[in-house]
Amino acid sequence: MRKAMAEAEVGDDVFGDDPTVNRLQERVAQLLGKEAAIYVPSGSMANQTSIRSQTQPGDEIIAHADSHIYHYEAGAPAGLSGCSVRLLNGPRGTFDAAAVRAAMRPADSHFPQSALIVVENTHNRGGGTCWSVDEIARIRQVAEEFHVRMHLDGARLMNACVAKGHSPPQYTRYFDTVSICFSKGLGAPIGSAVAGSKETIRRVHRFRKMFGGGMRQAGIIAAAALYALDHNIDRLTEDHANAKRLAAAIANMPGVTIDPGAVETNIVYFDVNESTGTAKSVCDAAREHGVGILPTAPQRIRAVTHLDVSTDAIDRAVAALNHMLTSRAKS
Ligand SMILES: Cc1ncc(COP(=O)(O)O)c(C=O)c1O
Repeated sequence: MRKAMAEAEVGDDVFGDDPTVNRLQERVAQLLGKEAAIYVPSGSMANQTSIRSQTQPGDEIIAHADSHIYHYEAGAPAGLSGCSVRLLNGPRGTFDAAAVRAAMRPADSHFPQSALIVVENTHNRGGGTCWSVDEIARIRQVAEEFHVRMHLDGARLMNACVAKGHSPPQYTRYFDTVSICFSKGLGAPIGSAVAGSKETIRRVHRFRKMFGGGMRQAGIIAAAALYALDHNIDRLTEDHANAKRLAAAIANMPGVTIDPGAVETNIVYFDVNESTGTAKSVCDAAREHGVGILPTAPQRIRAVTHLDVSTDAIDRAVAALNHMLTSRAKS
């Protein structure tokens, strides 16, 4: 990947003449089955330019209560697009078409206007959950009935495709815009993309500029994304197997609660019992053993597998965690 970056042909992407960025954008549009795509610096910018391009201030977005756009993007739907978010609940980051229908606002000047449904696949806070294509198809029917658009936060879409054996268009055909991240499981250092119709991507281009995401000789980093698409999709199965291996081992450790059967992709959540300590104290201690895991709530921990974590490394992490948790259970 570093070699591909070093050898990348570049131009000025703000003027649309960086050949490597253009190649990446064409590649992503084709991969996701859309007319056009645009390279952006981050997954958050991919989501927020998609939101801004398809809403007006005062509109309402429908999304899961645990969604990334609501939780982890610094209030951007309100800050950058002037939109409120109607939060839905449902198992592990998913919701159904009936919940979407119930959330639709009547066409009445008292209410915000329902404008955009956001689905996150895989779902991060849900635990790397893969969505059902059938449920998405049912949600699309509701969206069309109410003339509401749909955005897919596909930061980890390739994980869902690999885990489910679906081609990307099997998921993306139901969405007006789709974001994907190159910088997560695909292993590039930076970058995301939005795909959609030519007209929508033209609007995203404008808001990318407004949000400060226009980049000049971006071919250097786009080359990393192209390399990731060429080499790092099929191998996601290894990350998924490692996540399942980790979860199965954690299930045998004292002082924690986990449902290993819930692990579908590369994200593992587990809860530490209060007698074990806080999630933060466990993560701090794990870091001293070289294990990087993240507290996401007072008792909840997230572990993510990726291309820099081998099966051997998982086994070392398991040994370290087991040692730590067993000594906490005894003290
Ligand atoms: C589901 C989801 N969407 C979007 C993002 C945002 O990506 P970035 O960190 O590149 O802004 C993340 C980051 O973890 C994510 O998990």
